[in-house]
Amino acid sequence: MDNSLFKQSAIKSGLISKTQIEKVIEKVESDDDAIIAATLVKSGLITEYQAQQLHAGRTKLTLGPYLITDWIGQGGMGQVFKAVHNVMGRECAVKVLPLEKSTALSRDSFAREIRLQAGLDCPYVVRAFDAGQDGNVHYLVTEYIPGTDLRKLVRRGGALSMSHAALVVSQAARGLQYAHDIGLIHRDVKPGNILVTPDGRAKVSDIGLATWSMGLDDDPRAGKIVGTADYLSPEQIRNPRSIGPASDIYSLGCTLYYTVTGKVPFPGGDSKSKCKRHCEQTPWHPRKFAPDLSEDFVDTIADMMEKDPARRIASAAEVAERLESWCTTSFEVDRPIERQAWTAPPIGIESEEGAASVEGASETSRPPKAGEDGGDENAQLSSLGSGAASGPSDSQLPPLLDQPVDPAMARRRRRPFPIGFFVGLLLGILIGGLTALFSVREYLAP
Ligand SMILES: Nc1ncnc2c1ncn2[C@@H]1O[C@H](COP(=O)(O)OP(=O)(O)O)[C@@H](O)[C@H]1O
Ligand SMILES: [Mg+2]
Repeated sequence: MDNSLFKQSAIKSGLISKTQIEKVIEKVESDDDAIIAATLVKSGLITEYQAQQLHAGRTKLTLGPYLITDWIGQGGMGQVFKAVHNVMGRECAVKVLPLEKSTALSRDSFAREIRLQAGLDCPYVVRAFDAGQDGNVHYLVTEYIPGTDLRKLVRRGGALSMSHAALVVSQAARGLQYAHDIGLIHRDVKPGNILVTPDGRAKVSDIGLATWSMGLDDDPRAGKIVGTADYLSPEQIRNPRSIGPASDIYSLGCTLYYTVTGKVPFPGGDSKSKCKRHCEQTPWHPRKFAPDLSEDFVDTIADMMEKDPARRIASAAEVAERLESWCTTSFEVDRPIERQAWTAPPIGIESEEGAASVEGASETSRPPKAGEDGGDENAQLSSLGSGAASGPSDSQLPPLLDQPVDPAMARRRRRPFPIGFFVGLLLGILIGGLTALFSVREYLAP
């Protein structure tokens, strides 16, 4: 058995013993790391993600008692991993606060998120299980929601029908009503914070940015706009301190608009311009993008997005009731929404998106992108993971931040429309046609 980086890392990580590796070598009659890794993955001893990490020489694959099995995504607050508890074996999602962001403020904000989520118990809200600290890393453990989130669902498969949108958004409304009943305002309602399971159950996540609607004073971010500009309510823009449940209803209205049209209400422009338009303008009629929407459905979106909070639909429960009449079909997410196996990022290569990280989950200072249709709330992947360039590190989590959040999208961007090919083809047809025409005329000429 050679002493390759993969084998060393596998043993050091504690995932695989030397004897197990020797047995695999004997079985496959090869000392090749790729073959050994594939066999270990196939036998269920390690996951694909763990194999990639071990190949890269990363051996710290635990957080407290949680064994990291996969990378789920990058959010404004930190990275999200799939993990299992080493004793209970329960699958869960672990959200970490990256070392680079461990300022007193972000730690406080994270601690607040943990305390708030721990108290929530509703089928329409992502459940918190545990929280802890491993070295410098603080983490929150929540239930793992298989499937996707509403933003990814729309980006990958297009706008939803009225009945599917109503099913998802009405469940989110019930989750919000639960939060409002106990005095919490979400403040960051957006498609990315509505998780959807393959059988169409929806749960609101990240009530962490919420602050107790009374007692905002002890929240250092209460005076700031918290959330994505695409879904901010006019009153949240004017005075973030004085918002109530109605503000979440406006954001949920923008979310519903996005869900059925595939467009954010105020696309293009920078955050400042979006905020101005939330306060002063009405969006394009949703039927411009989704001609089949019924008048009643459009009215419901409009009543949720009413600029004056006093005239808006009064409660999230009423939103759920209004949407009920469209909840006629069950929602089987028929698209392949299982997350793809992530390829290990090339170490040292930065994300295409650049380093536009912003404090906490606030995305209002994100630079605008040309042609942006919104629903782009996670597009500002930070390149905090520059630690990856320094190679194997045991002191921190596998730094995967140099990976695009949605490789499919990244691939699409890299492959431009093959205009040259089509122009060439057209010219070919034209020249061929003319040549044929002239030969026919010559032939027919007297
Ligand atoms: N409990 C969970 N179960 C499964 N996936 C999750 C869970 N929480 C978050 N995710 C996924 O991880 C991604 C990043 O999440 P998050 O950090 O909450 O992002 P953001 O700060 O933009 O809200 C989300 O888009 C979502 O798809
Ligand atoms: Mg989130």
